[in-house]
Amino acid sequence: MAEYKIEHDRPGCIGCGSCAALCPNNWEMADDGKADEKKQDIGESELKENMDAAQSCPVNVIHIFEKSEKKLI
Ligand code: F3S
Repeated sequence: MAEYKIEHDRPGCIGCGSCAALCPNNWEMADDGKADEKKQDIGESELKENMDAAQSCPVNVIHIFEKSEKKLI
């Protein structure tokens, strides 16, 4: 169940690599030296490590949003 959404301002990434070091489950370094997230929709169990990655980013280009409940009827 994806409860959180990750946004990565990739143009602003300076390739420091701390996101991939702290959260290799969801962050990897691409051939161009910038990071890529493996998925943008994450659940509660993946939140902490992605928060650690976001907080470690020196240029603050990783953002995490809580998804709001969608009313179906
Ligand atoms: Fe880039 Fe920040 Fe990760 S600079 S490599 S998104 S920690």
